[in-house]
Amino acid sequence: MNLPFKQHLIDPEICIRCHSCEMACTADAIEHDDTNVVVNADLCNYCMDCIPVCPTGSIDEWRVVAEPYSLAAQYGFEELPEQEDLAGAGADNVEALDEAVAALLAEAHQGAGGASKPPASADRPTVNMYPLAKPTSATVQGNYSLTDDPTHDVRHLILDLGGVPFPIMEGQTIGIIPPGTDDKGKAHLPRLYSVSSPRDGERPNFNNLSLTVKREEHGLCSNFLCDLEKGDEVQVTGPFGATFLIPSDPDARLLMICTGTGAAPMRAFTMRRQRSIGGTSGGMTIFFGARTPKSLPYFGPLSKVPKTLLDQHLVYSRDGKKEYVQDRLLVEEEKIAELLVDPNTHIYICGLRGMEDGVERAFTTIAESIGEQWIAMRDVMRQEGRYHVETY
Ligand code: A2P
Repeated sequence: MNLPFKQHLIDPEICIRCHSCEMACTADAIEHDDTNVVVNADLCNYCMDCIPVCPTGSIDEWRVVAEPYSLAAQYGFEELPEQEDLAGAGADNVEALDEAVAALLAEAHQGAGGASKPPASADRPTVNMYPLAKPTSATVQGNYSLTDDPTHDVRHLILDLGGVPFPIMEGQTIGIIPPGTDDKGKAHLPRLYSVSSPRDGERPNFNNLSLTVKREEHGLCSNFLCDLEKGDEVQVTGPFGATFLIPSDPDARLLMICTGTGAAPMRAFTMRRQRSIGGTSGGMTIFFGARTPKSLPYFGPLSKVPKTLLDQHLVYSRDGKKEYVQDRLLVEEEKIAELLVDPNTHIYICGLRGMEDGVERAFTTIAESIGEQWIAMRDVMRQEGRYHVETY
């Protein structure tokens, strides 16, 4: 390590201890105790994998230091230390590192959809009521298959929170702690899942919520969840997420683009609107990509949602021809252009990370067709809390 150097730290006052960064870190550099989540300066390799997954931005803290803060020092932080004055101490080294870190960060933020803000009219969510140190338990009320394909198992899981308050907003996530320990004997960290039911519950006012879970080959938590039976208990943390939220303004128009289980928050948004303003008022458009109609989660229920509420574009990649959501955006160029220029439009993208580039390219082409620049439009939308990306 060349000193001074730029040390990666986590802001303990903003961090909600969801442990997404710890899960994402491939260098084993992030760890926690009951107070703080910290970064081991000896192991951090600046890969930036932790940056886009952090729901609060607390991960994005850097200090130029003559001597790195030890793990013990970081566990003792109640707030982040100020930047020390290091004038003259190896300034060349710091400058070069500064530039390299800035470039890596810019790339990481690009993937994350940039610093996100909640919609101006969104209600304030509750965050981290149940941290890892104090999870709550939920009982499985139902576990239903959503796909008609044994090689592609997607499930609708209903969890009952019993008498425990668990306020959740559409678009938020919860953590599920898989039972058991990892190969180092440590308890597993929670895995985050988007809630697919609206704030008043899957069944209104029954303190329950739903998740949409795809069974992943060798997926520890997804297999645990998909195999659960009615009456089983799960350990839950959260809720998490303070930006991927639905505007309360009934006139806000929503353009939702998703693949596979990325439909979870879109289902929650649709149910929220349907329950709060009824089926006649419109303003929602969805582009939903799946392999085939049989593997599209909620295909049946979706067909019953009134078209006046939700303009649906279901796009299939393995049903005769191969079509992705970004291809269909281009087919519907005029409709999308009209939405892009409307200051009431909010865009939500959720699903496979690979889709993000394709969707950005489609928006670039569509914006050009009306003499606009997509990047500039997107920056304004982000700034106004109207552009939200959650990909994995
Ligand atoms: P495919 O796998 O046929 O290439 P699921 O998670 O249920 O498999 O659904 C994901 C859907 O997203 C599939 O239809 C998948 O197509 C599609 N998909 C895969 N890669 C991309 C991409 N880069 N952009 C958009 N859609 C994608």
